[in-house]
Amino acid sequence: MGKILTKSAQGLLSLLVVFITVFPCAAYFNLPPLPTADKYGDVVMDQKATAQGQKAVVFSHWSHRVRFSCRVCHFELDFAFVAGQSDINEEDILDGDFCGACHDGSQAFGVTKQNCVKCHTGNDIDRSKQFAQLQDKLWKLPQGQYGNRINWTLAQQRGLIKPKYSMFRPEEKPLAFAKALVLEAEWSWVSPAVFNHDTHTPWLDCANCHPSIFNIKKKTTKHFRMEYILEKKFCGVCHFAVSLPIDDCSACHPDMRKR
Ligand code: HEC
Ligand code: HEC
Ligand code: HEC
Ligand code: HEC
Ligand code: HEC
Ligand code: HEC
Repeated sequence: MGKILTKSAQGLLSLLVVFITVFPCAAYFNLPPLPTADKYGDVVMDQKATAQGQKAVVFSHWSHRVRFSCRVCHFELDFAFVAGQSDINEEDILDGDFCGACHDGSQAFGVTKQNCVKCHTGNDIDRSKQFAQLQDKLWKLPQGQYGNRINWTLAQQRGLIKPKYSMFRPEEKPLAFAKALVLEAEWSWVSPAVFNHDTHTPWLDCANCHPSIFNIKKKTTKHFRMEYILEKKFCGVCHFAVSLPIDDCSACHPDMRKR
């Protein structure tokens, strides 16, 4: 009994701490530090490479998402949304799976002896020069505040980039589904989050989110709360590592003041 009491007292205390530190939106969540803009979205892939005498592969999202939607890789080609979960062998790539679907020597550089090091770069790879061209010279993409510091939504909407929706069926287009949802937080003093389907569908398949991440019925997704988002669930699946990061409170909670 004493134990249970202590537990609930602890619960109350931590709620109180959350209340005091969360409101009114500042440096409460103790978010992990963001990498520099050119490294945001980089994924170190090293399930086997180092063990097999090759340097690790550092996959860059920004250099690929200018040309391809998330859907191409995470729906058509079946890459996992979690680093290290795709289980890739060099043989698969040579067979045209995973990276090999494009890196075949015609759409993109192929898997040849002199190209091993283009992918197996090791952790010290520096892509900052190529990245600078995205914003300045070549692409002139609109600025964002966090993450890659690129406003990818505007870049796509203005046609500055045309990420392919499908690599197999060029005629395929996203379903027109413009439903915007206001996701009221359970705590009345927190300004609600907004979710726009039409800013997501150019990049993603409905099946990327439904039903494994979100139920299709509004407000039936269980435990849909910030504490779980911070565990990289729900919106946090993408908005921690690749899309505009969780630090950007006012992107999702438009009425929250900027940090
Ligand atoms: C050209 C292919 C490609 C494209 C396009 C792509 N991804 Fe990825 N993504 C990958 C690969 C490869 C991984 C690493 C998977 C692994 O390690 O098993 C990955 C991993 C991820 C992860 C996990 C990162 C982590 O640190 O855990 C997230 C989240 C993600 N991608 C989201 C996106 C989103 C959102 C988009 C669209 C804006 C996108 N990806 C576009 C290939 C791609
Ligand atoms: C959907 C097609 C596609 C897939 C899948 C893909 N790439 Fe690429 N990748 C490209 C294209 C197109 C380019 C640019 C053309 C070129 O460099 O040949 C490119 C460029 C690159 C570059 C040079 C630019 C940079 O980021 O430094 C690297 C390295 C690279 N890819 C690694 C990978 C790895 C590793 C994977 C798998 C984990 C992968 N790619 C999967 C299409 C793809
Ligand atoms: C287009 C990008 C790309 C190129 C080019 C490439 N690799 Fe890889 N390779 C990968 C990725 C991605 C993995 C998976 C990394 C991991 O998780 O360990 C991998 C894994 C490996 C592995 C460990 C897995 C296994 O099958 O044993 C070896 C060995 C390997 N590559 C050798 C090579 C050699 C040799 C070359 C050049 C002939 C090469 N790779 C070129 C992307 C590439
Ligand atoms: C990036 C993730 C994501 C993508 C992609 C996505 N949805 Fe959703 N969808 C959501 C979220 C989040 C909700 C709200 C869930 C909740 O409230 O529990 C939702 C809710 C819905 C609802 C219920 C709306 C209501 O008012 O009750 C429908 C219907 C729906 N989605 C259809 C689709 C269709 C069709 C597509 C593809 C064109 C799609 N979704 C793509 C995240 C997504
Ligand atoms: C499967 C990946 C994924 C999930 C899950 C996801 N998003 Fe996104 N989101 C994206 C991508 C891709 C973009 C395009 C812009 C970018 O990458 O920064 C985006 C853009 C946005 C934007 C900016 C555009 C706009 O509509 O104003 C907001 C806000 C946003 N997402 C909110 C949410 C919320 C809220 C959730 C959870 C209910 C969510 N997202 C879940 C991938 C995702
Ligand atoms: C990618 C979108 C997204 C971003 C970025 C985001 N939130 Fe949230 N937030 C949500 C969603 C979705 C909910 C849950 C709404 C609901 O209950 O249906 C939520 C709920 C909340 C709640 C209510 C309590 C709870 O746990 O549900 C608070 C407080 C909150 N967010 C604060 C913040 C702060 C502070 C930041 C910036 C550090 C932030 N959020 C960034 C999407 C986001």
